[in-house]
Amino acid sequence: MSTRKMLVSAVVVVLLVVSGLALAQRGGMGRGGPGGFGPGGGFGPGGPFDPAQMRQALTEAGATEAELQAIEGYRTTQRTVTEPLVQAMRSLREATGETAADEQVAQAVSKYEALKASTLTQLAKAEDSLKTQLGLATRAKLHAALLSLAVLDNGMRGFGGMSGGPPGGPGGFGGRGGGRGGPGMGRGTAPYFGSQTLPNTDSERKTLAVLQDLPGGQRMENVPPEDGRLLRVLAEAIGARHVVEIGTSNGYSALWLSLALRDTGGKLTTHEIDLERVALARENFRRAGVDDIVTVVEGDAHETVTRIKEPIDLLFIDADKEGYIDYLDKLLPLVRPGALVVAHNMNPAQADPRYVDGITRNPALETIFLHMEGTGVGVTLKKR
Ligand SMILES: C[S@@+](CC[C@H](N)C(=O)[O-])C[C@H]1O[C@@H](n2cnc3c(N)ncnc32)[C@H](O)[C@@H]1O
Repeated sequence: MSTRKMLVSAVVVVLLVVSGLALAQRGGMGRGGPGGFGPGGGFGPGGPFDPAQMRQALTEAGATEAELQAIEGYRTTQRTVTEPLVQAMRSLREATGETAADEQVAQAVSKYEALKASTLTQLAKAEDSLKTQLGLATRAKLHAALLSLAVLDNGMRGFGGMSGGPPGGPGGFGGRGGGRGGPGMGRGTAPYFGSQTLPNTDSERKTLAVLQDLPGGQRMENVPPEDGRLLRVLAEAIGARHVVEIGTSNGYSALWLSLALRDTGGKLTTHEIDLERVALARENFRRAGVDDIVTVVEGDAHETVTRIKEPIDLLFIDADKEGYIDYLDKLLPLVRPGALVVAHNMNPAQADPRYVDGITRNPALETIFLHMEGTGVGVTLKKR
C-alpha cells in the first residue's frame, strides 16, 4: 500500500473510532439505538443518556439495588478497560502526520489493532461475568432491558464504530425508536440487523431451552452465541455427517452443532480433558435429548484424536491455543475435500501464529476470518 493510501486509511480508522467512541460516551457505542423511554427521549446514539431513567427501567425489569450496583460497576469497568485504547488512538493520530514514514504508520496501526483485540476480549470477559452474576440466562426481562439500554453487548461490538449498527428499535418502553448505528469500519456504511434462532421443531426448542439455561459463559469458556450459531449454520449448510470438536467444556458449542446434526442425520465426537466438564457436558446432552448423536471422548485430545479413522466434514478446534497446529496436522488428512476446519479465538492476542500460518499459507486451503470484532473465528475450506 502506498504511503498516501496508508495515511488515508489510518486517518479513516481514527475518525471512525473517534466517532464510535463519541457514540459510546453517549451510551450508544456505535450501534443502533434502542427505543426511547417516552416521546422524544431516545437512548439511541444522539439520544441523551439519563442514568435515573436507566435505573428505573432496570428496577422495573427486576434488578435489585445490589444488582444495580453490579451493573454500574460493569459500566465503570467498560470505561476503564477502553481508556488505554483511547490513548492509543491519540498516538495513532500523531503517527499519521504528513511526515510519517510508512513503517511508522504500519507499526502504530498494528499496535492499535493488537490493543483493540485485547480490549474486546476483556470487555467480553466483563460482560460474561456480569451475565453470570445476574443469572441472566433465566431472567429474560432484565437481560432484554440491559440489551435495549445498550449496557450489554453494544459496549463490545460497536466499539470503535467497527460495524454499523442495526436500525433503531421499534420503540422500547413506549418511546420512539433510536437512531441508526454508526458507520462500519470496512465498507460499512450499512447498518446491520439483529436476529435470533427461532425454534422450528420440538427438538430444536428443547435444545435451545438447554442452551438458554446453561450457566457458563466465561467460567466455562463457552463460545459466544453468535459463534455457536455460525457453527450450526456451517455444519447444516454443508450437510455435515461427521463433526469433530476439540474442547467440549460443558457442551455449549456442541449443543449448537447438534442442532445441525439432528437435521443432517450426522454425529458429533467431542474431546475434553477435564473430567468435571465431561460430566457436565454429558448431563447437558442428555437434558437436550442429543446424547444419541454426541459422543464425549475423555482425555488429552492430542492423543485421543489419533484414534479417529473416519473422514471429517467439520473440525472445530477450541482448546489449548498452542495445540491448534498439532490438531490441524493430525486431522487435516482426515478432513474431506470440500469440508471445513473452524478455529475459535483467532484474534491476534490469542491465536497461535503457527496455526495462522498453517491455515493461511497452504494453497490447498481457503481461509476467512469472521467475527473478528469479538474473539474471532477462522473458517478454513479444504479445497476439492
Ligand atoms: C474454550 S473451552 C471450550 C469451549 C467449548 N467449545 C464451548 O464453546 O462450550 C476449551 C476446553 O478445552 C479443554 N482442553 C484444553 N486442552 C485440552 C486437551 N489437550 N485435550 C482436550 N481438551 C482440552 C479445556 O478443558 C476446556 O474445557
